[in-house]
Amino acid sequence: MAALEPGYVCRRCGWRLSRRDGELDCLNCGETIPIANGIPRFPVPNGVSDSSHETVFDRLAPVYETPVWFRPLYRLIGGATAPRDDRSTIASMLEPEAGAGAEIEAEAEAPTVLDVACGTGRITRRVAGDAASVVGVDISGGMLERAQRYAVREGIENVAFARMSADELWIGTDAFDRVACCWALHLFPDIDAALAEIRRVLRPGGRLVGTTIVDEYVLGAAPVRAVARLTVGAEPFDVESFRDRLRETGFSSLEFDRRGSALFFRARAE
Ligand SMILES: C[S@@+](CC[C@H](N)C(=O)[O-])C[C@H]1O[C@@H](n2cnc3c(N)ncnc32)[C@H](O)[C@@H]1O
Ligand SMILES: [Zn+2]
Repeated sequence: MAALEPGYVCRRCGWRLSRRDGELDCLNCGETIPIANGIPRFPVPNGVSDSSHETVFDRLAPVYETPVWFRPLYRLIGGATAPRDDRSTIASMLEPEAGAGAEIEAEAEAPTVLDVACGTGRITRRVAGDAASVVGVDISGGMLERAQRYAVREGIENVAFARMSADELWIGTDAFDRVACCWALHLFPDIDAALAEIRRVLRPGGRLVGTTIVDEYVLGAAPVRAVARLTVGAEPFDVESFRDRLRETGFSSLEFDRRGSALFFRARAE
C-alpha cells in the first residue's frame, strides 16, 4: 500500500476529511466516503456516472499498459514526429523553466502533483521520482486498482490514488503546485467544468501540463473521428478553440506543441 495520505476536502462543506474505521469522514457535516481495496471512492456527478467511460476503461484496464493498447495507439495518433516516450516529455514539461518568475524560484522543494485521469498511473509513476508527492485521480476503479498495484510493484511510496471525477474534485483550493492531465480532456463530458476544477486546485503560478487529441492529421478524417467517438467516446479539439478555453478558465503563458493529432500543452495558472 502506498504510504501517502493526501488531504481530501469535503465538497459539501469544505472541511478536511479524516480517515476513520476504513472510510473518510467529514467531522463537520457527516459525509462519509467509502474506501475499497485501499482506494477512496468519491461520488461522481450524475452526468458523468451516466457516461460510459467508467465501464469502457474498467474493461481496458488489464491491457492498457500492455503492447496491444497504449503504445500502438500513441504511434498512430502522434505520427512519426511524436516523442518516443510521452512520459519523459511530460516529466520534463513539469520541471521549472529556466528564468522562471519569483513564484517558481520560491518553490525550493519538490512540487506536489495532481494527476487528473491518471488511468493505470503511467504518468503518475514516471513523475513521482521528481515530486514531493503525486495524487492520481480517475473515474475508473479498474484503472485505479491497476495503478495502485503497479506503484506498489515498483516500490513507489509517494503516490496515492482516489476515484473522483475531473469536474468534481474533492481537493482544496490552491492545493497543488502542478497538475498533469494526459490523454483525457477529450473524454470529459464537461470540459469547462474540469478545467475550472483544475485551475481551482492549482496554486496561483502553478502549472498545468498535459496531452490531448486535436482534429488534425489522422483525426482530421471524419471516419477516424467516428471510430474514436464510438470506441472510447473521444472528441478531438480544434487547436484554437482549446487555446481559448484555457485562457477563459484562467490560464496564461500557453505553450502548445502539436505532433500529428497529439497536442502537448503547458499553461500557467493566473
Ligand atoms: C486514455 S486514459 C489516460 C490515462 C493516463 N493519463 C495515461 O496517460 O495513460 C483516459 C482516462 O481518463 C479517465 N476518465 C474519463 N472520464 C473521466 C472523468 N470524467 N473524470 C476522471 N477521469 C476520467 C478514464 O477512466 C481513463 O483512465
Ligand atoms: Zn462536510
